[in-house]
Amino acid sequence: MNSMERHFDFLIIGSGVAGLSFALKVAEHGSVCIISKTKLEETNTSYAQGGIAAVTYAPDSYAKHIEDTMIAGDGICNRDVVEMVVREAPERIQELVSWGAQFDIKEDGKFDLNREGGHSEHRVLHHKDNTGFEIQRALTQRVKNHPNIQTLDYHFGIELITQHHLGMQVTRRTPDIACYGAYVLNMRTNAVDTILSKVTYLATGGSGNIYQTTTNPLISTGDGPAMVYRAKGAVEHMEFVQFHPTSLYNTGERPSFLITEAMRGFGAILKTRDGIEFMHRYDKRESLAPRDIVARAIDSEMKASGSDFVYLDCRHLDSEKLATHFPNIVDKCRSLGIELDRDMIPVVPAAHYFCGGIKVDTNGLSSIAHLFAGGECASTGLHGANRLASNSLLEAVVFSHRSAIKAIETKSLVRFTQGVPDWNDSGTSNPEEMVLITQNMKELQQIMSYYVGIVRSNLRLKRAFDRLEILYRETEDLYKKSTLSQQLCELRNAITIGYLVIVQAKERKESRGLHFSIDYKKKHREYN
Ligand code: FAD
Ligand code: SIN
Repeated sequence: MNSMERHFDFLIIGSGVAGLSFALKVAEHGSVCIISKTKLEETNTSYAQGGIAAVTYAPDSYAKHIEDTMIAGDGICNRDVVEMVVREAPERIQELVSWGAQFDIKEDGKFDLNREGGHSEHRVLHHKDNTGFEIQRALTQRVKNHPNIQTLDYHFGIELITQHHLGMQVTRRTPDIACYGAYVLNMRTNAVDTILSKVTYLATGGSGNIYQTTTNPLISTGDGPAMVYRAKGAVEHMEFVQFHPTSLYNTGERPSFLITEAMRGFGAILKTRDGIEFMHRYDKRESLAPRDIVARAIDSEMKASGSDFVYLDCRHLDSEKLATHFPNIVDKCRSLGIELDRDMIPVVPAAHYFCGGIKVDTNGLSSIAHLFAGGECASTGLHGANRLASNSLLEAVVFSHRSAIKAIETKSLVRFTQGVPDWNDSGTSNPEEMVLITQNMKELQQIMSYYVGIVRSNLRLKRAFDRLEILYRETEDLYKKSTLSQQLCELRNAITIGYLVIVQAKERKESRGLHFSIDYKKKHREYN
C-alpha cells in the first residue's frame, strides 16, 4: 500500500478533552490534523463521570482548592502550578459552557456542585453522572464543524519524527532534540503515512491497560509517553498510578465500570462483605478520604477477609434523588440485578489514572522542541503523588489553553523539515501467530497487577523487572521482523510504560502518595 506525506501546521495525536480543546484554539491560526486510534469519541474523556473541579461560589475559595490539591498530592505538587490551575479554572469552565457543554443547574439557577474524596467543599461541576460524555459531545461537534480541522480516525501514531530519522545520533544527552511530526499507521489501508508538522501536540490519555483491572477504555496503552521516551524525551513520576477505590465488581467486564466517587460525596458508605463500616479505622475523613488512602484501606480489608470485593451501601439514601443524580449507575446496577434501595454494590479498586507522564513546563512544552503534551499523558506538576478527584479534566483545559498560546507563537517561527524518509518496513512480514502478541500483553498485565499494584515491595519490584525484561526482548524481536499492527505497537508501548513505572518506583525509596511500599515506613501525613 502506498504511503503518503502530508503537511499540517499543527498535528494533534488524541481526540479527548485535551486534544480537542487545543485544536479549537490553534485552528484560528493554521491547518490542524487530529488523529485518533479508533473512533474520535472513544476516549477516557467520554467515560468521565464525577465532573470537573473549579471554585464557583463562597464559602469555597481558591485557597481551599489549592490546599486540597496540595494535601492529596502528598508534598510533591508544584505549588505554582497548583495555584495557576485553580485560579484559571473559572475562565476555562466559562469557555466550555460557551462551547456548548452543559453542567447541571439547580432550581435557584446556580450550578449543582458535587463533592468528592479529598475536597473540603462541594466544587465539582457535573452533567448527571456522565460529565465527560457531555464535554466530549460538545467539543466533537465544534471540531467537526471547523473548516481548518481535519480529523483522521483509525490512524495510529507510531513514532515521533526527530533528527534520529534524518540519520543523526540522538541520545538522552542530546540538547536540542526537535519533533517534526509523526509516522502514522492508517489502519484502514495499513500504510504508514508521514505527517509533517510545525507543532505536534500529544494528548494520548492514560495507560490503565497495563493492568488487569482498569476503568480505562482499551485505547489507554500509554502510547504518548512511550513515544517520547523512545525519542529520548523526559518522562517522570510514572510510579504514581492511581487506583480508583470503587469500580463495579463484575468479573470479565473490561473496562471496569466506574462507580463515581460523587456517590460517596452523596452519602454512600463503604462496608465490608459482612456489612460493617471500616473506613473510620483508616482515616478521619472516612469514605471521603483521598483516593490512595481509600484504595489501600479496601485492599487491606479484602486481603484480611479473603474477599474479592467490598460493598458500597446506598440503601439509606433517597432513591429518587439517586436516580436523578446518577441515572447511568442506577441503570447499570439494575441491569445486573442490583437494586440500590435493596442491595449493596460490590466494588473493587481498579487502575484509573497516571499522575506522571511526559514532563512539561507551564506552557505544556515537553523536553523536545516543538512538541507539546497535555491531558493525562502529561506530567505538569499539578497532581504530585496523588491526583485530587476531578482535577484531571480541569488540568487538560487549563494546559491546552496555555499550550495553544505558545504553540501559535512557535508555529510562526518554524518551517516544515525537508528530507524526512518514508517509513522503512523492508524485511518485515506478517507475524505468524497473533497469540504471541496477545499472550505477552496478558503477562504484562499480570506482572503489573501482582507486583506493581496498590501495595509494593523491593522484592516484588525486582521480580516484575526481571520478568518484564523477557517480555521486552521477545517483543522487540517481533517488532523488528513483523509488519506493523495496532496490537503490536500497543504491546510495545505498554511494555515501555510498565518498565518506566517499575524503574521509577524502584528509585523512590519511600512510601508517598500512590506509591506505597512495605519496605519503607509510611510517612504519616500531618492531617491524619
Ligand atoms: P483521552 O480522553 O483519553 O483521549 C486520548 C486520545 O488519544 C484518544 O482519542 C485516543 O484514540 C488517542 N490516542 C492514544 N494513543 C494514540 C495513538 N498512538 N495514535 C493515535 N491516537 C491515539 N477526570 C476528571 O477530572 N473527572 C472525572 O469525573 C473523571 N472520571 C473518570 C472516569 C473514568 C471511568 C475514567 C477512565 C477517567 C476519569 N477521569 C476523570 C480522568 C479523565 O477522564 C482523563 O484523565 C481525561 O479525560 C484524559 O483526557 P485526555 O484528553 O488526556 O485523553
Ligand atoms: C469519579 O467520578 O469518581 C472519577 C473522578 C475522577 O477520576 O476524577
